[in-house]
Amino acid sequence: MTKDDVRELFPHIKKGKIYFNHAAIGPLSKTVTDVITGYAIERSDGKIKNYDDYLTIESETKIMLAEILGCESRNLAWTDNVSNAMNMLAQGLNLKKDDEIIVTDIEFPSNVYPFLNLQKNGVKVKFARSDHGKISPESILSLVTDSTRLISVSYVQFTSGWRSDIKKLGDFCRERGIVFSVDGIQGAGALYPDLNNCNVDFFAGGTQKWIMALQGLSYFYISDKLINKLDQKYVGWLSFESAWELLNYDTKLKGNASRFQNGTQNAIATYALHASLKTFTGYGIENVEKNVLENTKYFIRELLKKGIKPLLAETPVENLSGIVTFPFPEPELNLQKLAEKNIHGELRNGVFRFAPHFYNTREEIDTVVEALEKLIR
Ligand SMILES: Cc1ncc(COP(=O)(O)O)c(C=O)c1O
Repeated sequence: MTKDDVRELFPHIKKGKIYFNHAAIGPLSKTVTDVITGYAIERSDGKIKNYDDYLTIESETKIMLAEILGCESRNLAWTDNVSNAMNMLAQGLNLKKDDEIIVTDIEFPSNVYPFLNLQKNGVKVKFARSDHGKISPESILSLVTDSTRLISVSYVQFTSGWRSDIKKLGDFCRERGIVFSVDGIQGAGALYPDLNNCNVDFFAGGTQKWIMALQGLSYFYISDKLINKLDQKYVGWLSFESAWELLNYDTKLKGNASRFQNGTQNAIATYALHASLKTFTGYGIENVEKNVLENTKYFIRELLKKGIKPLLAETPVENLSGIVTFPFPEPELNLQKLAEKNIHGELRNGVFRFAPHFYNTREEIDTVVEALEKLIR
């Protein structure tokens, strides 16, 4: 599968749209919209009861998701959003008075509130200080004490695009017996987190942004070690081995991460995800990451040439991602003017946030940079 093959799948490109807003929500490819339509028709006047097909699709989807995350499918569970994944973690650790959690001061709220909610039990939440969108491992590790039980950071920060060294943090946490959790939504689908090799205990993400499927279906990775340690506060019929012996109320939990999928899941979003992931696995996640980082480096270089200074201008590639942010004059008005030219970015936390994906081209970046230059002049 080539980049041109992938571009053929996206109708918005044919309409001349330059869509650099994957950090907010990804476009649906024609493959995905066809599958969604097919599913709806099947449930309307086709088979109607298509649960067995769903089970096959669900299991294939987990295998493909595991491939782009670098983990085993048995360690993946579906959920509805990142917030609920983080709540499950926060509540399941049974933290006590004076136990400590470390997050950073620029986390998306989904990775903060579930932990602040534990303050009523006397748990302390500490905020590692960012520096202009950057988070050094030292800023996090310097807060660690003997009472630290959990560190939870974003793989990629939503306001700056800073990519954390999750291997370094994971290795440290594993050595100290601290649970290490990652909000992965702004990285997965653009970058390869290689979860099997970085001692992450928990990694939650959605499917609607860089993975370009539907809202309402998210997932989390949970390590074998944490599966057995986490106290499962909510259970349902599908949590148990005896799930389909409906009146056998035996309480032996399933051995893998699917024990956290308590009941019926979001089937149509799973079909959509299945279709979208085929593009990622067909193109290869390493190639996706390579294109994303090449686009970002090129974008930063071209912006600098025009006197526009991205937040991560002098950042090594290890800390870059698909997100490029920079301050811009009259941002609301100018974002609107760009949209009128069919160029789509975002305004976050007072700065412009542009997030091209692997299928976007240098030519599109040139067009965006030229338009930005004209707006400043
Ligand atoms: C870093 C980050 N985490 C989480 C989310 C979404 O959280 P939730 O799935 O809880 O709505 C977003 C954006 O919507 C985000 O940028």
